[in-house]
Amino acid sequence: MIDENPGVAMELIADLMPVCAGKSFYIHTYGCQMNVRDSETLAGWLVKMGYFPAENPEEADAILFNTCCIREHAEARVIGSVGALRKWRAQKPGRVVGVCGCMMQQPGQAEKLLKKYPFVDFALGPQSIDELPRLMHEALLEGKRGLALRENAPLREDMPRHRARSLTAFVNIMAGCNNFCSYCIVPYVRGRERSRETSAIVEEVASLAAQGVREVTLLGQNVNSYRQGQDDFASLLHKVAAVKDIGRIRFMTSHPKDLSDRVIEAIAGEEKICRHVHLPVQSGSTGVLARMNRRYTREGYLQLVDKLRKGVPGICLTTDFIVGFPGETDADFADSLSLVQQVEFDAAYVFTYSPRQGTRAASMPDQVPPDVAHQRHLALLAAQDEISHRRDQAQIGKTVEVLFEGVDGRTGQYLVGKAGDNRTVHAPGRQEWIGSILPVTIKRAGAHTLHGEIVPS
Ligand code: 5AD
Ligand code: SF4
Repeated sequence: MIDENPGVAMELIADLMPVCAGKSFYIHTYGCQMNVRDSETLAGWLVKMGYFPAENPEEADAILFNTCCIREHAEARVIGSVGALRKWRAQKPGRVVGVCGCMMQQPGQAEKLLKKYPFVDFALGPQSIDELPRLMHEALLEGKRGLALRENAPLREDMPRHRARSLTAFVNIMAGCNNFCSYCIVPYVRGRERSRETSAIVEEVASLAAQGVREVTLLGQNVNSYRQGQDDFASLLHKVAAVKDIGRIRFMTSHPKDLSDRVIEAIAGEEKICRHVHLPVQSGSTGVLARMNRRYTREGYLQLVDKLRKGVPGICLTTDFIVGFPGETDADFADSLSLVQQVEFDAAYVFTYSPRQGTRAASMPDQVPPDVAHQRHLALLAAQDEISHRRDQAQIGKTVEVLFEGVDGRTGQYLVGKAGDNRTVHAPGRQEWIGSILPVTIKRAGAHTLHGEIVPS
């Protein structure tokens, strides 16, 4: 049954409430920010059924896994953790185990998991989150195991949401991806690109601001290809920036081929937009980029970096690299190393290529031996570490705006927050300043953390 009708979901929920009221749930979330956001919707449905969030999985009555399949490593961890619940599931009647997310949407995976683990109640793909009420109904009231694996399902605006964070929030602006980078599984599991209505996004941001959220992060696999009627990503940014009580706007991820001059102007012109772009380059070799189907060259990327730095002085640039892509030679890898040196990113995430079944790269010749890929991974990380350290040191003496989100858990002595460029900043201050955006002068740079003093007002 495909439930396109929220009324039907509410009937299912009404049936479930007497069984679920007062019980608790725990969601294990793997992978990217999209999954974090999806877990809030899963949690929203469970809260509607009467569940409350458990502090830890052992004491929960329902456990969901929201899985990731971007690399093999992420998958192996999930399989192990689900398997470990066999005893837990049998110990008490009324317990539920559900496995959700991208891993389930790969051909045959959900069926395989349900067969391997007969105690798992259901599998749910990332485009079928609205089917959670049906699957819970079947598990708890009908004694049935279920599957929900729709493809390219229309976006729904009427799903509930339960947020764990109060000051910052993720806002989806689109789903899916049309790019088909040759290594990437995402377009296969999250479907084609679909943009949300601009008005729905703006309303959501306004409603979050009214609930006390200070910072929103606009999410999409490639936010720069957002399009809805007359609106592109740049006009969306301006509309979101016009929402009165929102303090800050972030966005991710940007594909270099689609980042327009208008978006650069929006970042430069709108105070509220953080001066940070996460701009995955993946490789410094034009040949590798072509085989990755990235549709830009090394030179094109460098020109874009130049344009960003000229258009938005002081902009923070972070990136992703893949090492060990099929056919990557020593010379190709040297191009990645030299690009790191040339651009001087503020931070870079380095991933070892992981073949994903069904993608074009998985069947390319000349797969790189794991030990070679590993050495490249270490070398690239080391090069970037040195640069990140240098760029962190260069922050000393600057005054930056920090959104304080809490108190340092270890010492309890400092307020902890994020600067506009996403760097973590510690500063002595008062509890009641949590939730405020305050100017901080940076005094010291430690490993991954800056230490500063709040400028007295
Ligand atoms: N292997 C390794 N890394 C990958 N990524 C995406 N697919 C793969 C893969 N098959 C990386 C890319 C992307 C980030 C989110 O994950 O660098 O930007
Ligand atoms: Fe994957 Fe490329 Fe789409 Fe990013 S842009 S989700 S890397 S296919």
